[in-house]
Amino acid sequence: MTKNPQQRIRMAVFPVAGMGTRFLPATKANPKEMLPVVDKPLIQYAAEEAVAAGIETLVFVTGRNKRSIPDHFDKAYELEAELAERGKTDMLELVRNIVPPEVTCVYVRQADALGLGHAVGCARPIVQNEPFAVILADDLIVSHEGGALAQMVEQFERTQCSVLGVEEVPGDETGKYGVIDPVATDTPGLWDVRGIVEKPRPEDAPSNVAVVGRYILTPRIFGLLAEQTPGAGGEIQLTDAIDRLLQEERVTGYEFKGERFDCGSKQGYLKATVEFALRHPELKDDFEAYLRSRFG
Ligand code: UTP
Repeated sequence: MTKNPQQRIRMAVFPVAGMGTRFLPATKANPKEMLPVVDKPLIQYAAEEAVAAGIETLVFVTGRNKRSIPDHFDKAYELEAELAERGKTDMLELVRNIVPPEVTCVYVRQADALGLGHAVGCARPIVQNEPFAVILADDLIVSHEGGALAQMVEQFERTQCSVLGVEEVPGDETGKYGVIDPVATDTPGLWDVRGIVEKPRPEDAPSNVAVVGRYILTPRIFGLLAEQTPGAGGEIQLTDAIDRLLQEERVTGYEFKGERFDCGSKQGYLKATVEFALRHPELKDDFEAYLRSRFG
């Protein structure tokens, strides 16, 4: 890639076209990304993280049953009028400006759920030739350091190369993730990625440093995705295209500071719900008292 020190990350791609089979029947008519954690859908937490990282355009790659996502980010005239009429100004604030007015939402369609790599490739006509972020909303990340994506954008601005959000996972869980072959750099938390494998068995995994749902990628990935053949699970895997990208360009992995909840699984989703309830200003005292009475 020709290095241009001025390059900024202006767009974030949200692939929301998966089948969400682990949450059926809840995801039969509703996307997984609209599942709420306490009172906010997963996709809104993800959009807020992107906005906090300075993203100006949110690109949603939608599939079947995804109408509720555009509806969530659109103006809701009737609801707003109703709340205004009833004088419910607090609630009006909550539904207005789900994202700031200067942020643009764009929707593209993935007609068939052919895999995450294919979904990201669907954003090419919008993103075109600039580096961009990818956020998987089912990985919910809480960070008190400006957000996981903001930390990764900072690394990109310094290095001008692709950055994968990574985390050390228990050795027996590598089969759930893309796992990198990491090489230490001079920057704490930053690895050079020498290789990446999708869902390796623990005995085949190059490490226990796993990629979680945050990426900053150079546009070269689009050309690689366009010719990517199906990999693990018969799907077009983003991991496979990244493995080819790192043979052409520097790719790094960054251990962001934050706490991640895997809301794509029921267990992770329930943990997130409990943790967010225990931190919610209106709920925390009563909810904690309930848990204490429940468990003694
Ligand atoms: P997952 O691997 O979690 O798959 O996708 P899934 O279909 O959403 O859920 P399960 O495994 O059946 O329960 C990771 C991310 O990639 C998106 C999903 O929406 C999710 O954000 N994705 C996956 C797509 O947008 N398109 C695809 O074809 C596959």
